[in-house]
Amino acid sequence: MRFGHSPATLDTTLDAVPGAAPAQWPRRPAGIAYGGDYNPEQWPEEVWAEDVALMREAGVNLVSVGIFAWAMVEPEEGRYTFDWLDRLLDLLHAAEIAVDLGTPTAAPPSWFLHRHPHVRPVTRDGQVLGSGGRQSFCPSSPEYAAAAERVTTQLARRYATHPAVVLWHVNNEYGAPVGECYCAVSAAAFRDWLRARYRDLDALNEAWGTTFWSQRYGDWSEIDAPRTAATVVNPAQRLDFARFTSDALLDNYRRERDILHRLAPGIPVTTNFQLANCKALDYWRWATEVDVVSNDHYLQAERADNHVELAMCADLTRSVAAGRPWLLMEHSTSAVNWQARNIAKRPGEMRRNSLAHVARGADAVLFFQWRAGRRGAEKFHSAMLPHGGTGTRIWREVVDLGLDLSALRPLRGTRVSADVAIVWDWAAWWALELEWRPSVDLTYRERIEAYYGQLWRDHLTVDFVHPEGDLGAYPLVVVPSLYLTTPAAAANLRAYVDGGGSVVVSYFSGIVDADDAVYPGAYPGALRDLLGLEVEEFLPLREGERVRLSDGTVGDVWAEDVRLAGATAVATYVDGPAAGGPAITHHRFGAGHAWYVSTRAHGEDLRGVLRNAYAGVGLMPPAGIPDDVEVVRRTGPDASYTVIINHRADAATVAVTGMELLTGEPCPGSVTVPAGGVRVVASSR
Ligand code: GAL
Repeated sequence: MRFGHSPATLDTTLDAVPGAAPAQWPRRPAGIAYGGDYNPEQWPEEVWAEDVALMREAGVNLVSVGIFAWAMVEPEEGRYTFDWLDRLLDLLHAAEIAVDLGTPTAAPPSWFLHRHPHVRPVTRDGQVLGSGGRQSFCPSSPEYAAAAERVTTQLARRYATHPAVVLWHVNNEYGAPVGECYCAVSAAAFRDWLRARYRDLDALNEAWGTTFWSQRYGDWSEIDAPRTAATVVNPAQRLDFARFTSDALLDNYRRERDILHRLAPGIPVTTNFQLANCKALDYWRWATEVDVVSNDHYLQAERADNHVELAMCADLTRSVAAGRPWLLMEHSTSAVNWQARNIAKRPGEMRRNSLAHVARGADAVLFFQWRAGRRGAEKFHSAMLPHGGTGTRIWREVVDLGLDLSALRPLRGTRVSADVAIVWDWAAWWALELEWRPSVDLTYRERIEAYYGQLWRDHLTVDFVHPEGDLGAYPLVVVPSLYLTTPAAAANLRAYVDGGGSVVVSYFSGIVDADDAVYPGAYPGALRDLLGLEVEEFLPLREGERVRLSDGTVGDVWAEDVRLAGATAVATYVDGPAAGGPAITHHRFGAGHAWYVSTRAHGEDLRGVLRNAYAGVGLMPPAGIPDDVEVVRRTGPDASYTVIINHRADAATVAVTGMELLTGEPCPGSVTVPAGGVRVVASSR
């Protein structure tokens, strides 16, 4: 294979690269997809020609169209107006811009809501949500299902063979911002779901522990959705309601997907996920239902380490995609409009963000949105074409990014290989964050991010795994906050360590089963034997309280009264409520190692236990990479591609040999990346 700087050509070729991508990848564009949500219905038609010309100038080769256009394609029930969409798709196709065609079902039109007012979602508190926004539908509503089915059928019939359409985009971010609905229809659907899960009422009473507070059910009809009540509602009921909600939304997706598959065979179907941020959906399940995974990611702009959070979300996206390439369906060129303070991206930041997603497996870089809107709730959201037009820095960076992505075409279809894994589970997240846990300071993502952040700083690439998933590929698996651990997950972790694997487990893991019932005996019931210890009592700390450990670690939020039962103490508590007791432990289990951290340690302090764990399995974090420099490798059959992103304020040099794709310069042993810059080095294998 030959490397060289690709000339600045548009990746708008109509033919796909044979065998370069998985079967379900859209047949076009051939290279890395580039573009965004395009809402031409918000603009007079004269603007469209300018849009398309500028898209060509920027190297845009894929746009998502029609996502919120229900009222424009069906202005009244049963009357369809596709002529504008016909003209638009023809225009895009003539410009060799491929289309990801949305089903418009995330924004039911006003005629529909007016006719079916009870379709609007009801909150836990019983508030019926108003109209005038979007996503105002109850996931269990038969009227909504019928209307969504009709409009999807019409779209599929009309555009199944349109040459511009390469991908279907069903709905939009199911579960966000509203996932759960507590209306009477939802409550009835919940009961049906429960009947299917438990079959008989005794099994449900047992699973939910309904002898507590006299909650026993004598008939299915007595069961309600877990609305806000006088006090805390049965946690197992709430956990099942979370599962039900994810499934109810999934049924909506499946209904549309099946129509599209039947009427438009051969065109892959996706729906945009919001991984790591949307709590409502169990994306491990959802990912098996899409032809290709796509994700939306927005920086938590005020965070100084928001690029680490970005990396985590990208790794999670690749992981639910089972390692296959995925589409970054949305991110922003600069500020969003919906955070408390919408911090603008500074020069070069958009490029770093976009290429960080590519580094971690994205073969598409798309934005919300193409042209900044003048009206409506999102008018202060950045876009590829800002209000200020083509004379702006953002526009220039958008054009430059198009050139970069064109040069990165060889990365398309290549895979990222990870060094370690972190266990991630939506059910554990749901369960951990229900009410009346030992401390309000326990949150699911916090521990995941703490460990992920330290692995990132150690320059290790992370895959996320389902707790019952295959762990065999990883020398080390980190298990943060796995409060809910099923017997199958516990057996999986045990077998993995027994066979020579290594785990680092954080406090408050292995506590309850799938019904939120505490495992019998001392904590952590599911992982006691694996960790070789018992936790006699949780010792949550007061706000601001800190504990010191014998190895210099400082913890907050949490301590435990740990009794060793086979494990040895690596560090003990020097002060605080567990003074003198074990704090960090190590247990040889079969051929492997199990480490346990019983307090909330931060950043550098986690480095100690992780370094021990690395050493135990001979894992060497890469040396010679400066702090705040991100290095990720994608590998193809003939070459590997090292993406180096410099988050520092000064230049950084990294050892690598090959050809740099963005500058076209050879790298005979190392590459120097300017402050805030990115380099991608192709090396023959
Ligand atoms: C996403 C959504 C888009 C747009 C964007 C603004 O969550 O899918 O339609 O609203 O947020 O950041």
